[in-house]
Amino acid sequence: MSHISSPTAERVTIPVLRRWKREGRRVAMTTAYDAVSARIADPLVDILLVGDSVGNVCLGFDNTLPVNVAMMNHHLEAVARTRPRALLVADMPFLSFHLSPEETIRNAGGFLQRGADAVKLEGGAKRVEMIRALVDCEIPVMGHLGLTPQSVNVMGGFKVQGRTADEALRLLEDAHTLQEAGCFALVLEGIPAELAARATETLMIPTIGIGAGPSCSGQVLVFHDLLGLTAGHRPKFVRAYADGFRLLQGALSHWAADVREGSYPSPDESYRLAEGLGEAIAQWTPSNRT
Ligand code: KIV
Repeated sequence: MSHISSPTAERVTIPVLRRWKREGRRVAMTTAYDAVSARIADPLVDILLVGDSVGNVCLGFDNTLPVNVAMMNHHLEAVARTRPRALLVADMPFLSFHLSPEETIRNAGGFLQRGADAVKLEGGAKRVEMIRALVDCEIPVMGHLGLTPQSVNVMGGFKVQGRTADEALRLLEDAHTLQEAGCFALVLEGIPAELAARATETLMIPTIGIGAGPSCSGQVLVFHDLLGLTAGHRPKFVRAYADGFRLLQGALSHWAADVREGSYPSPDESYRLAEGLGEAIAQWTPSNRT
């Protein structure tokens, strides 16, 4: 019997997410950066995020700041070609939604033209002008508050946010400001569980937590983190459901050993000449080349 639990085959849309919030149904979201991760995750989760975390997870950068629109387009297109049933959200990278409403609309509109259903962008009240401009152009926006990785230099590192009374109240204000500006959902990252719970119970829109405790309307984890594919420091909120790194290295080391000892490929894994052609080949030598 399979232990793989598949949700409904229902195509996930923004009205569906609104209904799930009313029904109290929790939302599972993960990242996808290419067609392989999209095909693995799509039947099992509700939202696929082409995150700017592609920068540190796949492209070898230390943080998300070097990621640009061209890189996001490349990864989004690969995911979109798989035509996921999950809601497909594309992250707006650093500087793609800061300069002017026109540029923000062009970048986000380009993501929708490439197959995204919605965009996500980081920041609170300061970003409201851009969020309103997008919503006015029928571009659905997911907000992102708390530990926003694009603010790493201002935060002085990847640190839990909202721990003082001032910060906590500002986050609640920001969450409601983003809801009023038209965001259809909010990611809450790296904040105390009690603060995420208060935001979730006072908002009409769903909250998706990452390092924000169990009371959010849903949870998001980076695909490579939850499958144990990332090496190095693992934040405490990351629960790895597989030891993917060791599993894949085990398989590769087995294959390399088989190659070295000559047991790969086997006769069954090889193509054969048609009957009678073996002799013609055996007669041929470099010296009788035509
Ligand atoms: O880029 C990303 O992967 C994200 C999630 C962690 C929410 O923003």
